[in-house]
Amino acid sequence: MPTLYPAGENSMTFNTDFVWGEAVSGYQTEGAAYADGKGLSIWDVFCTQKGRILEENTGDVSCDMYHKWKEDIQLMKQFGIRNFRFSLSWPRIFPEGIGTPNKKGVAFYDEFIDTLLENGIDPWVTLYHWDLPYELYKKGGFLNQEFPEWFASYTRFTAQRFGDRVQHFFTFNEPQCIVGLGYQTGKHAPGQSASIKDLLAMQHTILLAHGRAVQELRAFSEKPVKVGMVLTGPADYPASDTQKDRAACEKAQLDFLDGPEHDFHFNAFNIATWADPVYLGQYPDKLLDLFGKYMPVIGTDDMKIISEPVDFQGQNIYNGSCIAAGAQDGYSIVKRQNGFAHTDNGWPMTPESMYYLPMLLSKRYKVPVYITENGLANEDWIALDGKVHDPQRIDFLTRYLRCLRKAVEDGADIRGYFHWSLLDNFEWAKGYGDRFGMVYVDYATQKRIPKDSLYWYRAVISSNGGIL
Ligand code: GCO
Repeated sequence: MPTLYPAGENSMTFNTDFVWGEAVSGYQTEGAAYADGKGLSIWDVFCTQKGRILEENTGDVSCDMYHKWKEDIQLMKQFGIRNFRFSLSWPRIFPEGIGTPNKKGVAFYDEFIDTLLENGIDPWVTLYHWDLPYELYKKGGFLNQEFPEWFASYTRFTAQRFGDRVQHFFTFNEPQCIVGLGYQTGKHAPGQSASIKDLLAMQHTILLAHGRAVQELRAFSEKPVKVGMVLTGPADYPASDTQKDRAACEKAQLDFLDGPEHDFHFNAFNIATWADPVYLGQYPDKLLDLFGKYMPVIGTDDMKIISEPVDFQGQNIYNGSCIAAGAQDGYSIVKRQNGFAHTDNGWPMTPESMYYLPMLLSKRYKVPVYITENGLANEDWIALDGKVHDPQRIDFLTRYLRCLRKAVEDGADIRGYFHWSLLDNFEWAKGYGDRFGMVYVDYATQKRIPKDSLYWYRAVISSNGGIL
């Protein structure tokens, strides 16, 4: 395995307009779950169900960004953060998902966006980061054929309202998890385990909703906007840099089968069944071969809507498996060494993911990529000196970013990088157990303490990656 992360010598690799940013999402940071006319989301309800979330935590208050946002924006400004990815809470804007908008919720985002811009911070808006309005869930959610039009009308409103100031939109965040965690493993809201037929129907509906949202954003924003979708891994890497292992790795990265023998078990956590329809205008042949009989009826215009041209791909990259070539053109997952380096939530440290996946995306889909999330859960606490020291985070991110730099050097079209996350926040089913922030949040007092990594990131940004 060649070393993918030697120290750099200059800051010339990343273009001068390379985007460096921080990311959060609405339910994970805003709190104010019942304030100012907000409607319920599936997460509000899920968190009230016993045994769903670590220590019965909820996002009711979280980092209380809904009230602390002015301070948080000043903090970003102070640390040279010029790009901020956050999501709109759909039920805060439309308490019932459709119908009459909630004036106070809309006013909140208006002021938030204005203040970001006044402070030189570009808003990168995600329309859907998992908090489906509960009222729409009751109507069948993603299984209701009207879903794409519900999403389109919410999107139209946001385009008309914010499209004069927001230039970058993401439609769905990690649809793989919406389906895979929400409806396959049931670890996330709404905690179901659906049939393969329903999983594939939901996948199609979400893809259609994505395409409709792209159309609405382009048609109704006052200024030209750029738009894409955010996908997640698997961000696998080859056991060696040989052609054989690299080819096996690509195969694994695009696969959608799971299980010890890759035995016809559909795995929603894949890239190809989501990205092929969007960029190539078709589902993978293998999916249709294996699961054709479970697929929903595909309308005449569906694939055209789904593949409505986008401007970029958002890709979240955390970790992946090590893949070696196997018998009969297959692949196998290499067992990790005892004591492998891992983060506080057990995820392996695999910086190579940040090289091989961007390379694959560039090659296969030929679309500009923004890394929309990357980071780690770390055991951070306030040290006796009152500060929060997180050298592991700096080391971890340095490795990943050097791999990203190598991908750029080798021709991948990477336009930007958003760190997950600005603040420690509500990590879904893991509650407040995982700390992903560059800013420590003392949940008892809501005090923010910039960790050492935030000082480091400021230097990364101001040198355009030169210090890496
Ligand atoms: C995701 C979500 C984030 C998570 C982050 C860390 O990727 O799962 O987009 O909301 O908090 O990824 O798990």
